[in-house]
Amino acid sequence: MADPAKETVSAAGPTGGQHAFYARDAIVPFPVIEHAAGVFMTGTDGSRYMDVSSGPVVSNIGHGNARVADAMAAQVKTVEYVFPRLAASRVSAAYATRLSGLAGPGFERAHLASGGSEAMENAIKFLRQYAVATGAPSKRRIITCEPSYHGATIATLAMNGEVTMAGFLDGFATPSLKVPAPMTYRVPDGVDARSYADRCVQALERTIVDQGPETVLAFVIEPVGGLSTGCVVPPDDYMRGIRQVCSHYGVHLVFDEILCGMGRTGKFLAARHWPDAKPDIVTMAKGMASGYSPLGAMLAPADMVDELAALTGFEFQYSYNAHPVSCAAGMAVLDEYQRHDLIARAETGGAQLRAGLEDLQTEHAVIGDIRGLGMLLAVELVADRATKAMLPNDLRPTDRIRIHGLDNGLLIYSRPTSGGKYGHWFIVAPPLTITPDEIDELLRRLDGTLAAFGAEMRALGAL
Ligand SMILES: Cc1ncc(COP(=O)(O)O)c(C=O)c1O
Repeated sequence: MADPAKETVSAAGPTGGQHAFYARDAIVPFPVIEHAAGVFMTGTDGSRYMDVSSGPVVSNIGHGNARVADAMAAQVKTVEYVFPRLAASRVSAAYATRLSGLAGPGFERAHLASGGSEAMENAIKFLRQYAVATGAPSKRRIITCEPSYHGATIATLAMNGEVTMAGFLDGFATPSLKVPAPMTYRVPDGVDARSYADRCVQALERTIVDQGPETVLAFVIEPVGGLSTGCVVPPDDYMRGIRQVCSHYGVHLVFDEILCGMGRTGKFLAARHWPDAKPDIVTMAKGMASGYSPLGAMLAPADMVDELAALTGFEFQYSYNAHPVSCAAGMAVLDEYQRHDLIARAETGGAQLRAGLEDLQTEHAVIGDIRGLGMLLAVELVADRATKAMLPNDLRPTDRIRIHGLDNGLLIYSRPTSGGKYGHWFIVAPPLTITPDEIDELLRRLDGTLAAFGAEMRALGAL
């Protein structure tokens, strides 16, 4: 277990800020980070942790990048803030143009926000405004997957496929319609991932038809999953299938690339893995400013944006949309992507990581599945690999793996989706700047983490 002498913050201890709001029964301590550089974060007590998941898959260029810091400082000293409803900022316009240029045809307009949830809300508001302005006001229902994650504002919470939120949302917000996510590991008995994915496409079509296509605004999906599914990569046929269904019924297809975009999967947009399933709208955030400043975006085609601009415009505004300092950070982050060829490294580093994880799987019976794309990987933990039996939820496996991670110098991101209903996994998505030697080091530390975790589960009778 974690050394109590190490300086940490826990909900139960003396604390302020965010942690005061967290549940008192939390068992994983929060190390107090004083310094961060590259893939390492150092606590006030000197403990050094490798950032296994880039926080929540945010810190794509690694920590402590002086060039980004300098670009942000220079922007603050020049023009620290411009309110887009009153004036324009050169850096915001240049950043939006550069981002949509990288996203390519079909995504010529970038609407900038302060993070993922806001970007997702903007996408939905944009589509709703477009429907109302173009004479389709009955289009108001959203379809999302079960499980899924799209944010933490009230509207995006209602879109999430997360069963533990049912009581909170009941009578409070209108939940999206849910269809099964194309899970690839936990599929019904006697069904393989591909035929399960076919069923999922059929479920989408049935839901649209039952609801009435004229009432359905959009189907929103994470093309490559994050924490909600444990990095599920849907089969190609599924992606083609949902595109066909959405086109057939006039439902907008939205890819939530807030976590999986920005080169994580080995392509700038994850959507590029499926050229024949191109979405109508894409949302991005996290890696855009890589944690140096809050930044998110909704990418939309020029013809839709221009048509709407000629009708009513899309004028919803937060005070901090398209913030110049965030855009300067975003620009400098893109420079780092180019300088270090980070999208290619997502692929090569991801392949090295996956091979190492597969080696660990031969040693550690608790590893049931390894999945993901590029340097966005998840490890699913099981009680029995042969039967895929889950670990008992009351043993809090996703918490315990984090504790053993801390003991072995790793900061691991894991939390159970829907209270563990779908199983337990953790994310392996270090900064894309990680070197081959650092990947080996990470794998060594993970080996120790999994050994301690397995021993504990065995001692508790779970294995
Ligand atoms: C797929 C996905 N969508 C949306 C969000 C919400 O982004 P944010 O936390 O920046 O509001 C997240 C955050 O984890 C995410 O993973």
